[in-house]
Amino acid sequence: MDMQKIPAREGNHNLKDYQKMRESFSWDDMKKNFSWSETGKVNIAYETIDRHADNPDTKDKVALIYSAPDREETRTFDELRKESNQFANVLKKYGVKKGDRVFLFMPRSPEFYAAFFGILKIGAIAGPLFEAFMEQAVRDRLQDSQASVLVTTPELLPRVPQDDLPDLQKIVLVGENDEKDEKYIDYQREMEAASDQFDIEWVDLEDGMLLHYTSGSTGKPKGVYHVHNNMIQLYATADWVLDLKDDDIYWCTADPGWVTGTSYGIFGPWLKGVTNVIRGGRFTPESWYETLQDNKVTVWYTAPTALRKMVSAGENLPEKYDLSSLRHVLSVGEPLNPEVITWGLKALNLRIHDTWWMTETGAMLIVNLPSEEIRPGSMGQPIPGVEATIVDNEGNEIPPNQMGNLAIKTGWPSMMRAIWNNPSKYESYFVNGWYVSGDSAYRDEDGYFWFQGRLDDVINTSGERVGPFEVESKLIEHPAVMEAGVIGKPDPERGEIIKAFITLNEGYEESPELLEEIRQFVKTGLSAHAAPRELEVKDAIPKTRSGKIMRRLLKSWELGLPTGDTSTLEE
Ligand code: WT7
Repeated sequence: MDMQKIPAREGNHNLKDYQKMRESFSWDDMKKNFSWSETGKVNIAYETIDRHADNPDTKDKVALIYSAPDREETRTFDELRKESNQFANVLKKYGVKKGDRVFLFMPRSPEFYAAFFGILKIGAIAGPLFEAFMEQAVRDRLQDSQASVLVTTPELLPRVPQDDLPDLQKIVLVGENDEKDEKYIDYQREMEAASDQFDIEWVDLEDGMLLHYTSGSTGKPKGVYHVHNNMIQLYATADWVLDLKDDDIYWCTADPGWVTGTSYGIFGPWLKGVTNVIRGGRFTPESWYETLQDNKVTVWYTAPTALRKMVSAGENLPEKYDLSSLRHVLSVGEPLNPEVITWGLKALNLRIHDTWWMTETGAMLIVNLPSEEIRPGSMGQPIPGVEATIVDNEGNEIPPNQMGNLAIKTGWPSMMRAIWNNPSKYESYFVNGWYVSGDSAYRDEDGYFWFQGRLDDVINTSGERVGPFEVESKLIEHPAVMEAGVIGKPDPERGEIIKAFITLNEGYEESPELLEEIRQFVKTGLSAHAAPRELEVKDAIPKTRSGKIMRRLLKSWELGLPTGDTSTLEE
């Protein structure tokens, strides 16, 4: 077989002619898939859960298969409807209203999903936080969003700041606790007392539903604001790209603290009414093969960092498991190495379909569709209804096979509608009618897009986006650290690792113990995935004359590359 081009496979796939659709498709064609096209009543929670619970054919269908090392449970669509109604009633009792921000800081569990949909049903905006966040990361997000309620667990409560959060009225605790203060709400007790009937708050398609915080190269993490209208594109891509059918068992490995875990860990599969596997606990190649086997997963959406670990675990490992149910595999978050695609063909006997999108884009934009040829190393082509191109710095389109900034014509349904509290940041994404992604890429003559790297200093470590500024800010809080510059250093398994260069304050001597202490300081203060794996002490951190850290120069030094233009370097 020509490794350069892997043809679509025969079988139980959606073999639509997407090339033709790209010419004639209009997003209005999708509206017929939603009940609001007839009733006029909009709420994404209704389309995702209640709609299937209202249908006698799917009411008792298993929506959720939850498996964690210490807990295995299922929920039907009807059960999820009732539990989310109960939670919406709890929120109502405590005065939560449409547009309020309610944040979730807890591991994946059936309670998480009940709470998530309860928030949406009352018309509030959900803000899911990754469970590994430490106090500073939690504080930044709750402060910026002015969240009024937080749902968390007693285990994570010590990482919830007790000060500086004047807007936070209530904390819902999921799990045994003996908090007496009236600020705390006991989840179990309130749920038992709450009715499982709730009149959904009908909203406008342009009303808010979700805030996901993500990192840029400067400033604190920014709140990417999404609206109910997202459902149009989430449904379309769950159909075309995830290729979901009624009988599928679907598994998305991402945590709902990141956008993949909401867009395609929650909305995509359930908008399509498909059984969704949610797995908690830590990753090992063995446990992942087991999850695929034991649940008879048919469609699997995962990330290159996990796939690379499975490749390293050996080609013989998958032979030990019955993976015969699996029919469609997809990847997102980082470049999908051609070697991994080759491994997939051998070890799983399946193509792995790369997809490209961002927190800001809300849903997939550039993809490999099941009926189209895969060119290993390429992210694929834009979905119908989306126009992508490569632009120069002024926002002018440039010809095929030339590197530039990957850009999308504005106006796709799932696009973010704001950066919370930061209109100028939002404006800065758009040039000349294009949304400019900050990814460098080129497009070939046939319209396939090829990822080259980030154009800014954003770091992608194991598929998680880390802003160097956040890490630098934490580092300099340590008494020994005077200045810090943080870069992503290429790594075969993690894509990039975080490397920090620091200068030390007077009176501190470099030692392995001190460096480890500083590393732990970031790990426990910010979050584990943001802690530098490598720390190097320098005499000075290179800066521009205006005082900006020259991360590009640090990176060139690290990689032994030419340093380029250093005319702005401070003496
Ligand atoms: C950045 C967005 C929403 C998906 C999860 C990440 C990188 C994403 C790919 C891909 C190469 C990719 C880009 C992008 N990225 N998908 N298929 N190939 N790089 O969302 O945290 O908002 O990060 O992830 O650099 O800009 P995110």
